[in-house]
Amino acid sequence: MKLEFVLDGKLVQLDHEPQETLAEVLRNRCHLTGLKVSCEVQVCGACTALVDDLPVSACTYLAYEARGRRVTTIEGIGDGERLHPIQKAFLDEFAFQCGFCTPGMILAAKALLHENDAPTDAEVVNYMDGNLCRCTGYLPILRAIRRAAALMRDREREHP
Ligand code: FES
Ligand code: FES
Repeated sequence: MKLEFVLDGKLVQLDHEPQETLAEVLRNRCHLTGLKVSCEVQVCGACTALVDDLPVSACTYLAYEARGRRVTTIEGIGDGERLHPIQKAFLDEFAFQCGFCTPGMILAAKALLHENDAPTDAEVVNYMDGNLCRCTGYLPILRAIRRAAALMRDREREHP
């Protein structure tokens, strides 16, 4: 099957098998391996990608569903040499250990902050409940998202 979509801001056209998931296409055909696959049943969030700014579990999202849409991966959110504020906040708050869940966490947080630039802690916890972390503990992740929200609001004020 032919697939055409916008991947991290660039138009991509490729051929794929009908049963291939978005995770398989991104990792195996586009060589974007930041996205991780763990449970493969839409439970852990390690495979989170954004489709038109909304999080999807790429392990169960069929690639053809992305046709004509905008797909964002962890490789696409920085700005050249500069980290995205959420990436920086995860670093500053030591919000990862093995890092396996981190790309998915960051993309889910990006979607949350796109919808709500000042979420309460309860709203963060509720939104992020499809993203599991097995080693860091959730408090540093919560602090990182809080810090990222503040950084992004400051950036928006400075460069509206
Ligand atoms: S690998 Fe997709 S949700 Fe776990
Ligand atoms: S940092 Fe290891 S699973 Fe989250």
